[in-house]
Amino acid sequence: MYPGQPNYVMLQPQYGPPPPYYSPQPYHSDENRRSNCGNCCMRCICCVYCLLFILILIFATGIVLTYTFYKPKIPIYKLQDLSVTAFSMQPDLSMNAELEVTVTAENPNTKIGFIYGKDSSIVVSFEDSILCSGKVPSFHQGHENVTTIKIPLSGKTKFSPDLSKALTADQDQGRIPLLVQVIVPVTVVMETLPLRQFQLHVSCHMTVDNLRPDKKPQILSSTNSFGFGF
Ligand SMILES: *[C@@H]1O[C@H](CO)[C@@H](O)[C@H](O)[C@H]1NC(C)=O
Repeated sequence: MYPGQPNYVMLQPQYGPPPPYYSPQPYHSDENRRSNCGNCCMRCICCVYCLLFILILIFATGIVLTYTFYKPKIPIYKLQDLSVTAFSMQPDLSMNAELEVTVTAENPNTKIGFIYGKDSSIVVSFEDSILCSGKVPSFHQGHENVTTIKIPLSGKTKFSPDLSKALTADQDQGRIPLLVQVIVPVTVVMETLPLRQFQLHVSCHMTVDNLRPDKKPQILSSTNSFGFGF
């Protein structure tokens, strides 16, 4: 130190060009090439994402448009009637049952039809034992169509003594619980284009007051549940 010398050190000259920036790594040409490749990778990923996004957007728009155009509605099925043609228990406890159910199928759709396939089944059981069974007729239901279907059911089964006792007791009480299980293959038809087939499952728990051929049974209560299978 000597007099007149400022007691600080100037790191940068106050005037003149700023000092050049020194990169910590002197050889960065290789690094540059790598980051260029990274850029192109990023661009690629960006493109894929953009494409995916556009595809999803188109798909979603398609679904929304189809939905608003076709306005799909669930068809309505109603159990209209149940009649007993034959119902008898032989002394050897074999049951002979012939029933007929009348169902109306209502298709409220204006642009969607349904094809009810051949491999259907309808089974009526009492306490897990099958009373009778049949098939839903195969048919094509057009737009805004209401069709009444009569389904004949028949069956011959041998009941156990306990089961026949339970059935006789329920007949006497006027409350017979029955389970009706329906499986129908259904194809949805958009306009004229048939789509994929699915299985419609309907389970109906109902109570009837009697099962006698000479007396019309009254349905005291019934609850339905629906399901789909592929
Ligand atoms: C409903 O569809 C059934 C079966 O295809 C057909 O027999 C019937 O005539 C149609 N009913 C009406 C009102 O179009």
